[in-house]
Amino acid sequence: MSAIRHPSFGEIAEDRVIIFDTTLRDGEQSPGFSMNLSEKLRLAEALAELGVDVIEAGFPIASPGDFESVHAIATKFKSSDGPVIAGLARSGRDDILRAAEAVRPAGRSRIHSFLSTSPLHMKYKLRMEPDAVLEAVSSSVTLARRFTDDVEWSAEDGSRTEPDFLCRCVEAAINAGATTINIPDTVGYALPEDVTRIFTMLRERVPGAEKVILSTHNHNDLGLAVANTIAAIRAGVRQVECTINGIGERAGNASLEEIVMALRTRHDAIPTTNHVVTENILRTSKLLSTITGFDVQPNKAIVGRNAFAHEAGIHQDGVLKHAGTYEIMTPESVGWTRSSLVMGKHSGRAAFRDKLKALGYDDVGDNQLNDAFRRFKELADRKKVVYDDDIVALVDDEVMRDRDHIRFVSLDVHAGSKAKPTATLEIEVDGVTRSATESGDGPVDATFRAIHALFPHESVLRLYSVGAVTEGTDAQARVTVRLEENGKLVDGQGADTDTIVASARAYLHALNKLLVKRTRTEPKALSA
Ligand code: KIV
Ligand code: ZN
Repeated sequence: MSAIRHPSFGEIAEDRVIIFDTTLRDGEQSPGFSMNLSEKLRLAEALAELGVDVIEAGFPIASPGDFESVHAIATKFKSSDGPVIAGLARSGRDDILRAAEAVRPAGRSRIHSFLSTSPLHMKYKLRMEPDAVLEAVSSSVTLARRFTDDVEWSAEDGSRTEPDFLCRCVEAAINAGATTINIPDTVGYALPEDVTRIFTMLRERVPGAEKVILSTHNHNDLGLAVANTIAAIRAGVRQVECTINGIGERAGNASLEEIVMALRTRHDAIPTTNHVVTENILRTSKLLSTITGFDVQPNKAIVGRNAFAHEAGIHQDGVLKHAGTYEIMTPESVGWTRSSLVMGKHSGRAAFRDKLKALGYDDVGDNQLNDAFRRFKELADRKKVVYDDDIVALVDDEVMRDRDHIRFVSLDVHAGSKAKPTATLEIEVDGVTRSATESGDGPVDATFRAIHALFPHESVLRLYSVGAVTEGTDAQARVTVRLEENGKLVDGQGADTDTIVASARAYLHALNKLLVKRTRTEPKALSA
């Protein structure tokens, strides 16, 4: 294999693996994982700090909201040393024009066009003959190249595509000007040896394959997404498509953190390089969990709560004698720190700002800093020990609320085994304070009724869940509320030492998200 010249990356060394993150597109597409504009911008920023090469920011034709967020992310990364911003498009003209317009402001932009190539998809989904598919591959890539030199083409359901036809499609895409060729295992059906066979075949049989970046995109339906990605790299692939925490359609996509740490830990067997700052992995994973309300399972590799915990005495003893006995990588290398004591209630604003910097929040605006600092002081008054995780939960909570129309002001609850639970809630709607007192079947019910009284709405509560940010009875509660309105689902989160306050914040967060959704038109029925 020799070095490749790429329009966005220039000369790419043979051993360099491009990390293409699709958390904001394939990840966001899965039920319950939708994000609003400010959340997407926040995550895009974290992905850039993590060092990913390409951010697939969305599917611009899907809805005005999708277009707006891809455009906003492209505008944020105007500089030519930022990540490449990609927009997804089917092969039709409207899709490609919309994607081109959305990514245009980026310093480095990519149009990612895709079309199904498997017999099953062509016959039942596209109702197209293979020749028409081939023609559409050429015309879509040719059109996309009018807007940017960086064009990726994907063969949807590529792993179930007839080999000769796959070679012809890839050749057509390369001839039309594609600079990256991606072969997705769309339904998570492939085994590692299938992936090896497909890429070896493309490299041997398709003229021009040596001049483009080959890319892999694996779904996790059989739990093989990361194994398939590693097999692809070993077969010469130099772009991997993946998501934080492995989120994505159905069982998800290959997880970025697992791929990157496999490459780093087993550099002996897979000698490659990439630009990911692994120490930022945990922070990015937690940010995604905070935004979406979905924590990873405790035993999730790399970022799960137990990933570096040693319960068995024999293991603990071994690790104390030499960490390498049971640890194949250090917890610090992916961002875990021994949960450290933060400043107490006497700490000042400057110390708080320094702490935020140390936790990776370099760019918290003054208003957010003031609000977060006020809440930190309140927290330090109520809680014996304030941990880094508490600060992260608190600041993420403030950052998420940056553009909210409805804001929490105060809550006073009376409850117990005798009294009828009542809640007096004060909120601000576009700067105007409203207050109401309601009673209910419990303090949470009374609080949610007060929200209804202050801001009448039709949405229905679909999920209410409570977790703890840290340990102990004085830990902050992290509450997730899911609301449904006209078939649209949104999740809101809130954190506070008082579970009822966290519940009110989570409910208001979800309502704010619904307000944003209401201003957008329905997404078209799409498949990707
Ligand atoms: O899984 C898939 O096939 C995709 C493509 C659109 C790349 O997500
Ligand atoms: Zn996919």
